[in-house]
Amino acid sequence: MPTSAAPHIRDHLRANPLSQIQRNGGISTSDARRSKRDLWLAKMSEDAVACYVDPYKKWDETEKDYMPFFLSLAGGNARILDLAGGYAKAVPPLLEGGNSVVLADLSLPSLLSAIGEHASSDVLFVRLDMNIGLPFIDGAFDGIWFSQAFEYVPPDRRTTFLRALRRSVKDGGVVFLSAEGLSGIASWFSFLKGYLYWKLVKRAPIMWGECVYMLNLPLYKGWHYHSLVLSRRIQKDLRAAGFEILKSKKSRKSEYFTYVLKAV
Ligand SMILES: C[S@@+](CC[C@H](N)C(=O)[O-])C[C@H]1O[C@@H](n2cnc3c(N)ncnc32)[C@H](O)[C@@H]1O
Repeated sequence: MPTSAAPHIRDHLRANPLSQIQRNGGISTSDARRSKRDLWLAKMSEDAVACYVDPYKKWDETEKDYMPFFLSLAGGNARILDLAGGYAKAVPPLLEGGNSVVLADLSLPSLLSAIGEHASSDVLFVRLDMNIGLPFIDGAFDGIWFSQAFEYVPPDRRTTFLRALRRSVKDGGVVFLSAEGLSGIASWFSFLKGYLYWKLVKRAPIMWGECVYMLNLPLYKGWHYHSLVLSRRIQKDLRAAGFEILKSKKSRKSEYFTYVLKAV
């Protein structure tokens, strides 16, 4: 990992996030103490990131719209977390105004590419599985940019995850959160078919609200996991975790749910 980030950003990481992930069992699927569902979700996480082998830098129209609002709320010289930041698409605008950025992701190809591009900037890179925990001290960040990735948080991990997200941003801080909805990936019919296949044929510990579908990309062919994010339910969860919803949008064209949240 590069050492170019300003000391104040590094100070906000708990001692060593990588060792913490390993201590927690990380993404390993071999720990006999974990439940069948834990092991299945770990495998789904591995599959979910396996497709990010090709530089993925797709901007959604709402991300572009909301970026200036997010930056204005974060303030200048802000500490920003780009959570599940992937190929660092959002890093250049996030660095504006003297900000420093921590980019965290599970995908090694994405992180290596991001490091190659931004090693000399005020960016620190962390490999983590966000479903295991966020290894940051309380209130570490003025703002968290979390784009196109909430669909990788399983429904039964959502409450814990949102609490960790809330804990990692300072009081009054800002969070941008977006997730792809069902219509971006499948019809209700194919969702139901997939659910029954995984439940009854593969006998996987899948929950209602989870979708595992076949991706057929030039560099990746295989299963891909999404959790379904339904807007009314998620708004309740966001408020319960300690967020006020400042802006939200369900873009018909792009099929993303988007929220700008204030930590209250
Ligand atoms: C659709 S991409 C979005 C990337 C980036 N936020 C953007 O907007 O370009 C989803 C990202 O989520 C990451 N991801 C998926 N599951 C994850 C997990 N459990 N922990 C951390 N990152 C994860 C993937 O590796 C990928 O980089």
